[in-house]
Amino acid sequence: MRRDSSWSYTLPVLYWTAAAAAAAAAASNDVVNRTSCGSHTYTYSGLAGYGFVPSNATDKYGDTLGGFGSSAAFDLNSWRRIGPETYTGLLYCIPDRGWNTNGTLNYQARVHTLNVTLQLTSNNNSANRPSPPNLQLTYLDSLLLTDPTGKPLTGLDASADFNDTLHYRGFPPLPAAIYTGNGFDDDPNSGHGGHRVSLDAEGLALTQDSFWISDEYGPYVYRFDRRTGRMVTAIEPPPAYIPHRNQTISFSADSPPIYDPNDAPIPEDPVTGRANNQGFEALTISPDGKTLYTMIQSALDQEGGTSKKYRRPARLLQYDISSGTPVTEHEYVVMLPTYYDPTKGHDVVAAQSEIHLLPTAAGDLDKAFLVLARDSGFGHGQDESLSVYRHADVVRITSNTTDLKQWRGVDGVNGSIASAKGVLDAGITPAEYCSFLDYNVESQLAKFGLHNGGPQDRFLLNEKWESLALVPVEPGLKASVREREYFLFSLSDNDFITQNGRMNFGRFKYADESGYNLDNQALVFRVKISS
Ligand SMILES: *[C@@H]1O[C@H](CO)[C@@H](O)[C@H](O)[C@H]1NC(C)=O
Ligand SMILES: *[C@@H]1O[C@H](CO)[C@@H](O)[C@H](O)[C@H]1NC(C)=O
Ligand SMILES: *[C@@H]1O[C@H](CO)[C@@H](O)[C@H](O)[C@H]1NC(C)=O
Ligand SMILES: *[C@@H]1O[C@H](CO)[C@@H](O)[C@H](O)[C@H]1NC(C)=O
Ligand SMILES: *[C@@H]1O[C@H](CO)[C@@H](O)[C@H](O)[C@H]1NC(C)=O
Ligand SMILES: *[C@@H]1O[C@H](CO)[C@@H](O)[C@H](O)[C@H]1NC(C)=O
Ligand SMILES: *[C@@H]1O[C@H](CO)[C@@H](O)[C@H](O)[C@H]1NC(C)=O
Ligand SMILES: *[C@@H]1O[C@H](CO)[C@@H](O)[C@H](O)[C@H]1NC(C)=O
Ligand SMILES: *[C@@H]1O[C@H](CO)[C@@H](O)[C@H](O)[C@H]1NC(C)=O
Repeated sequence: MRRDSSWSYTLPVLYWTAAAAAAAAAASNDVVNRTSCGSHTYTYSGLAGYGFVPSNATDKYGDTLGGFGSSAAFDLNSWRRIGPETYTGLLYCIPDRGWNTNGTLNYQARVHTLNVTLQLTSNNNSANRPSPPNLQLTYLDSLLLTDPTGKPLTGLDASADFNDTLHYRGFPPLPAAIYTGNGFDDDPNSGHGGHRVSLDAEGLALTQDSFWISDEYGPYVYRFDRRTGRMVTAIEPPPAYIPHRNQTISFSADSPPIYDPNDAPIPEDPVTGRANNQGFEALTISPDGKTLYTMIQSALDQEGGTSKKYRRPARLLQYDISSGTPVTEHEYVVMLPTYYDPTKGHDVVAAQSEIHLLPTAAGDLDKAFLVLARDSGFGHGQDESLSVYRHADVVRITSNTTDLKQWRGVDGVNGSIASAKGVLDAGITPAEYCSFLDYNVESQLAKFGLHNGGPQDRFLLNEKWESLALVPVEPGLKASVREREYFLFSLSDNDFITQNGRMNFGRFKYADESGYNLDNQALVFRVKISS
């Protein structure tokens, strides 16, 4: 067991200087990498920001703030420039299903609100002159999420038994867990037990009155009332996505509770449907709030999902949410990239952790997304610190991309678009995939003293990056401009890893067995999109 080198760090106040401003403005002409995809050019101009929240920070309910980066979404109306090189805005983010490295527990899902302030620095920073953190993340609030009747949700793994699902009028059967005691320890007298809807939140999209959240257990997409946190809608995807064991729906993700580590489902992997812990990682919404897109983390089990080597075909669903009842409009497939995993000695699939719909020019019929595809098992707190694939790439859907909704038999229980080795069926054209922005460019990380690979210190990037949020460099500028610059925010999910942790509204204390304290890290990339 290794431990972090001890640290203490206070966020310094950065003073704006004319030189810094000139350098920051010049940054927009820099090119770290450039990619053409369709008729658009995508430019990565440089790493523009870095900040963090310490691993032991708590929310207003006394719980560890946790991996707030499972997904993040800006309230775009709040995004403002408040100084020559200073921006601020409200960022909503969702943590994972609670501390879960030693088993799942009865953590109630929630949405955190943070105030984000970005102070651009001179672009002259480098390994010799690293900038201190220039992104301030200030915790403001949290909203607890409940089922349709107002009962708390739980992070506990859903029961494998279909008979344990919960039923509400107008909802599909919901994944649910039954527990004794308080759901945090194995003492049956610690509480009255319960039966709650299980949520493993991974994607977030905002509308005026709702939080849309995608989940891994179902995999489902839920709508929650933004004021009360109450579930108001659940989207059940086609049967091909729903996990089945013994020819029956079985929502367990094989993530036993902390107090009963041997409580694994039989068989462990679903025979068909989403693979364990590879649910709807991604959720994104159109600017008019009428269209929602969600995407599976990697292939369904009948299409290669049980193997890290084969799980390339990842399905993407488009829903019309302009009326009260979501309607499936289109379904596409994205072939995920692969990378060489030195610990395995062969190529494996870079599963995706988020997508973000990109703005398009008027009249442009193509849809383009950023997709966060990455390796796993490398970074701060892992045995290997050097990550080999951590990208925000571009995915483009054109008139050539096959709409799976028009194909017969692919959405039924055992419906499939690929072989068990993840090879797409003949005739299916996947979305276009264009490699773009690499998180791990050393010269960019060095601007803030960060690194990929090397010593296990707090400047080493975390393993998991799971969110993408995009805001304009020139807030208020009309969207019709042919070339626009954005700040692309990405937050990490630290899995609540800390030595000073709290769950169960502060009553349950824990110290992660890894011995690590992982900051909640956030990066800001400056990107340009031109047509
Ligand atoms: C987090 O840890 C730091 C350093 O050990 C300590 O100063 C701080 O009070 C802790 N914060 C919380 C919320 O426990
Ligand atoms: C967020 O922080 C900025 C800069 O510190 C401040 O101007 C703004 O009022 C804050 N917003 C909220 C909602 O707290
Ligand atoms: C950049 O750094 C170099 C060497 O440290 C210094 O000479 C130069 O003035 C700096 N430029 C700016 C714009 O800060
Ligand atoms: C679920 O309930 C049905 C009907 O009550 C019963 O026949 C079946 O055995 C139950 N399944 C399990 C796994 O307990
Ligand atoms: C599936 O069937 C096996 C063998 O009959 C049984 O042990 C197992 O509990 C069943 N799994 C589920 C999820 O019902
Ligand atoms: C569709 O495919 C054809 C043939 O490969 C190609 O010429 C055309 O540019 C593609 N159209 C789009 C919109 O990508
Ligand atoms: C699903 O389809 C595959 C290929 O057609 C077949 O081998 C398998 O037995 C089917 N599984 C189930 C549970 O129907
Ligand atoms: C740069 O972009 C190309 C694709 O145009 C991609 O293959 C490569 O990985 C990227 N490299 C870096 C360092 O971003
Ligand atoms: C992890 O869970 C096991 C029981 O499953 C328990 O004995 C152990 O103390 C737990 N570790 C931590 C750090 O809570």
